[in-house]
Amino acid sequence: MSNTQQGRPAPAAIESERTALKARKVAFGWDRTPLHWVPGDPFTSHTINVLHLLLPAGERWFVHVYKQVLPYIRDERLREDVIGFIGQEAMHSQAHDDVLPHLRKLGLDPTPYTAQVDWLFEKLLGDRTLPPGRARKWWLMERVAIIAAIEHYTAFLGDWVLNAAELDRRGADPTMLDLLRWHGAEEVEHRSVAFELFMHVDGGYRRRVRTWATAFTALVFLWQRGSRFFMENDPTLLEGRATVRDLVRRGREGVLPATGDIIRSVPRYLSRTYHPSQEASTAQAVAYLANSPAATGRTAAPGGA
Ligand SMILES: [Fe+2]
Ligand SMILES: [Fe+2]
Repeated sequence: MSNTQQGRPAPAAIESERTALKARKVAFGWDRTPLHWVPGDPFTSHTINVLHLLLPAGERWFVHVYKQVLPYIRDERLREDVIGFIGQEAMHSQAHDDVLPHLRKLGLDPTPYTAQVDWLFEKLLGDRTLPPGRARKWWLMERVAIIAAIEHYTAFLGDWVLNAAELDRRGADPTMLDLLRWHGAEEVEHRSVAFELFMHVDGGYRRRVRTWATAFTALVFLWQRGSRFFMENDPTLLEGRATVRDLVRRGREGVLPATGDIIRSVPRYLSRTYHPSQEASTAQAVAYLANSPAATGRTAAPGGA
């Protein structure tokens, strides 16, 4: 069934990084979260806020695609992982969606941007009217590969935010931090699923490279447009701007991922020996989730999660 790297052995998973996946029911109260939830730093707040624009539609789309791929899975353990993944992503999508009314209340209406993102995932990356057979399967495999590439970055960001102590030092809003870290920890937990699914149903190396290029370009494009959108429409800023220089500087300060780390993550995904279990730490993710205010049904307290 699969043309896994043209006869090369599949990249080795680190077995101890594997964990059973379950969706945790979470609830966040946004009433006390300010618009600039990293105090005095609208650029960082809004650059991270772009997640709330992209993830509701994006993760709904993951779920939609994965439900279609379930019949192609011939491995029980992988099927269980995919079902766990679907449950987690559905919850993530909902949790980020719930932030949007709060942003609207604070004077920043995200609808002009989210309408475009919805169109991208529902129409451009949607099912399309394809005849059953080869064309339909090709498009399904293409999307499975795109999701694997995106998940390389969600795991990267999850690992980053779990370790971004500078956000705590700057007094970032505890509820927002808990949303990001609960989500980031589950991204780390399930970081191998999308790649293993892709390797199981297709695994073609050219497809991996091609879809990585598509996903990376789209993410960079959507992210810079999203942060510009927020900065330009923020009612509290007279001349809100988002520049590459801001991004590089915040990366150096540790409140956003460092540009060098983002660049270095590229060859890792494209390496033929890549396996997501080689990145980040499941133990750290599970430890965070055991104490996350939202995941354990408590409320985030001011002054740290
Ligand atoms: Fe997610
Ligand atoms: Fe994910």
